[in-house]
Amino acid sequence: MRILVTGGAGFIGSEFVRRTLLDSHPSDEVMVLDKLTYAGNLANLEPVEGLARFRFVQGDIADRDTVQAALHGTDAVVNFAAETHVDRSILDPDAFVKNDVLGTWILAETARASGVGRFLHVSTDEVYGAVPTGASLETDRLDPTSPYSAAKAGGELLVLAAYKTYGLPAIVVRGANAYGPYQYPEKLIPLHITNAIDDQSLPMYGDGQQRRQWTHVSDFASAVDAVLRRGTLGEIYNIGNPEPEALLPVNMEISRRILSVLGKPESLIEYVVDRPAHDRRYRVNLDKLGALGWQPEWRFADGLDATVQWYVDHPHWWRPIKSGEHHRAYYARNYADRSSFAR
Ligand code: DAU
Repeated sequence: MRILVTGGAGFIGSEFVRRTLLDSHPSDEVMVLDKLTYAGNLANLEPVEGLARFRFVQGDIADRDTVQAALHGTDAVVNFAAETHVDRSILDPDAFVKNDVLGTWILAETARASGVGRFLHVSTDEVYGAVPTGASLETDRLDPTSPYSAAKAGGELLVLAAYKTYGLPAIVVRGANAYGPYQYPEKLIPLHITNAIDDQSLPMYGDGQQRRQWTHVSDFASAVDAVLRRGTLGEIYNIGNPEPEALLPVNMEISRRILSVLGKPESLIEYVVDRPAHDRRYRVNLDKLGALGWQPEWRFADGLDATVQWYVDHPHWWRPIKSGEHHRAYYARNYADRSSFAR
């Protein structure tokens, strides 16, 4: 199979590429199309760089000509390309509409015209909105709250419309929070690990009691692979971690664990003004994914400790990012006005 992986230099996309080429499908060919925005990083693809079965093209999914050229001879498309960070979507929503709605549409439309056999679009569990109890089913109504999740909802609805209207052979996955090696240090886990290593404060939004369904990036990528190969066209599949909720701690407990593994004081945790429209809890039902024979390999408790160790061992990967002008400007913009307050 020849697969076009868009956004393949990002966190989950590059894990999917490394796994496909090096582990699970040694005769597949992969072409990565990635715009290399701030979060795309060629260093994530170093392990596959020299392989004859791998090619990289820099480009935008919203650029029809680039997409058309990249699609030549492609059997399947997996679309990871997206703006993904909720806080950035609050500061700069236009970029999310452009990439996650219009870019997704142009990619889907061009893929249909070129006759690909399968088009897997990676969406998010945030399209369901917060779920106070229970777990979201793929049939539940969508209720996105942030510009990010609303843009992702728009993108996936367009992909499904292309399936229904034009016969695009599409499948959608809705993923829970991923964590693990190579995650850009703006998300909760890598931000708090790298801040803690440097004895900087760990900004905690609101009361820190929000809960996510933390899924190791390698399990996320194996779930995408299972859906790509065994999923039914026109269907939606949730992706997440099936561990009981008691084993998936709230934000505050995660940050405490990070500090304890690193031997740092809890006084580094700093309560800051909450994210607007902050969803308190997500959890998805995984029966449909399980029916494809997918099983995760990581328990969160082990995965978190291993991730802390990965960032300790790979400062050459994240230090240039955190000391770079782009990250520093974002950090100042997002956190400077969130003056801390005592609880
Ligand atoms: O649910 C899937 C989604 O998970 C993905 O679709 C998104 O691309 C991804 O960014 C992620 O969204 P979240 O908003 O849940 O992830 P984030 O790491 O930004 O935040 C996780 C939790 O930690 C959330 O409750 C907000 C909180 N938080 C986050 C940051 C960055 C803090 O308390 N302090 C922080 O500095």
